[in-house]
Amino acid sequence: MATLNEILERATREHWALGHFNTSNLEQMRVICRACKELGSPAMIGTSEGERDHIGLHEAVALRAALAREFGIPVFLNADHSKSVETAKAAIDAGYDSVHIDLSAKPFPENFAGTREVVAYARRDTFNIQHSALSISLEGELGYLRGESKIEKEKIEIRPEDLTDPEEAKRFVADTGVDRFAPAVGNSHGIAIDEPALDIERIRAIRSLLPAHVALVLHGGSGIPDDQIRAAIESGIANIHINTELRVAFVGGLREGLAAHPDETTPYKLFPEAEEAMAKVVEEKLKLFGAMNRI
Ligand code: G3H
Ligand code: ZN
Repeated sequence: MATLNEILERATREHWALGHFNTSNLEQMRVICRACKELGSPAMIGTSEGERDHIGLHEAVALRAALAREFGIPVFLNADHSKSVETAKAAIDAGYDSVHIDLSAKPFPENFAGTREVVAYARRDTFNIQHSALSISLEGELGYLRGESKIEKEKIEIRPEDLTDPEEAKRFVADTGVDRFAPAVGNSHGIAIDEPALDIERIRAIRSLLPAHVALVLHGGSGIPDDQIRAAIESGIANIHINTELRVAFVGGLREGLAAHPDETTPYKLFPEAEEAMAKVVEEKLKLFGAMNRI
């Protein structure tokens, strides 16, 4: 079976993007896997530190294995936005397939050193193995991404100094050895008040300076207009993170379910509306990303 790194390398070459969908419970994980199976996409499920604390680190790893078996598709579990060396290492030890080491809020030397430390830790037993064959995939981030995965009530102002410098990105990737790189290119987390404006030229410039086997990741995928997403993929983005739109759909559906069945006391009977609403979003994104029929 292809590794996550191999799938992403292929996505870069073929100009489509693997969806990364955040999740905090079993119902949502099943929705993602079912939609991926139906449309023929590998599934990449992500847990932020808050989400993984809710599910439980070991529980998430066990669920990933069960889902892969049940749905018969590749399912990859990513420790999204691991904000410290310790939380990144804990995810590696627990058996995550992928870790996003996000030390981007720290000064460059600390981000660089911490990311490098986690990469060395993850690969401590795998010297001399060809890069793409490594089963764990490691992501680093440079630049400052504002916002949180929610509907933002305040205007988000992205400053020029937040954005990733392409030459610095090249140095960061070469010296840390990450497999995936997340830049700040006009994106922000959450659904912003103003329409986002991705810096497509910057994506192109960063892509042209990175080795072909390193995938470019777009965070903050919620609320970005479809034409900008398409342009980003065309310019080299191979992995897109979606969280807020899933949260909004799921919670909206859950509210609907609760209102429609006020006397229902069986918990699992309250989820169908939420699951249906979330499934629609996952399916739309897979189509938009060109991720169908890729298994
Ligand atoms: O890592 C998670 C994503 O970047 C989610 O961003 O909430 O804007 O979709 P989003
Ligand atoms: Zn993110």
